[in-house]
Amino acid sequence: MLEKLLLATTNKGKIREIESIFRGSGIELILPEKSIEVEEDGKTFLENAYKKAKAYYEVYKIPTLAEDSGLVVPILDGYPGIYSSRFYSIEWGGIEEVEDTKDRANIKKLLRLMAGKEDRRAYFITFAVVYMGDVGIWAQGICKGYILYEARGEGGFGYDPIFQPEGYERSMAELKEEEKNAISHRGRAMRNLIELLKRLK
Ligand code: IMP
Repeated sequence: MLEKLLLATTNKGKIREIESIFRGSGIELILPEKSIEVEEDGKTFLENAYKKAKAYYEVYKIPTLAEDSGLVVPILDGYPGIYSSRFYSIEWGGIEEVEDTKDRANIKKLLRLMAGKEDRRAYFITFAVVYMGDVGIWAQGICKGYILYEARGEGGFGYDPIFQPEGYERSMAELKEEEKNAISHRGRAMRNLIELLKRLK
């Protein structure tokens, strides 16, 4: 069983969630001292997660966990998809100016594109990769739901205020952190990954 994993991210929202998911797993997460620039130019979430894990592994030389996630909206041909973090800045759907934060600009653009759309189904997806040199493992997690008509709630990050998970009457940003982790794409991917890691001798 692996006892230590480097977590290849400096995103505070992700770190908090992933640390809380790993608590009690017997695996210690180590945070990088500095962020490493990795161009997320892969065509899939899995490819981008792999690139990030490999880049950090090459510097720190310890088994490295990286994840790539995003929001997929089928009626928008799968966008924001792999462009989720910089959706506001891509030409598809028109560029959105950043007035305060990038998250808000992403939300504004998505709500604009969803105006008048009845099919509001969407899902978050995470691919998590552990890179260990010549071998590695991966797991995925999905959280299905709907795009709301306006932002609600202060918790979470990214698109959480406009995403309502299936079976809930609240937005993801209105859930407590433990509630989000229990159903989120990231929570599911990480728990699948922990199960696999526990099988490693
Ligand atoms: P990544 O850092 O390349 O994985 O980009 C992920 C982007 O997808 C983030 O910047 C968010 O915009 C969005 N995203 C991923 N996970 C979540 C989540 O749990 N809630 C809300 N937005 C998310």
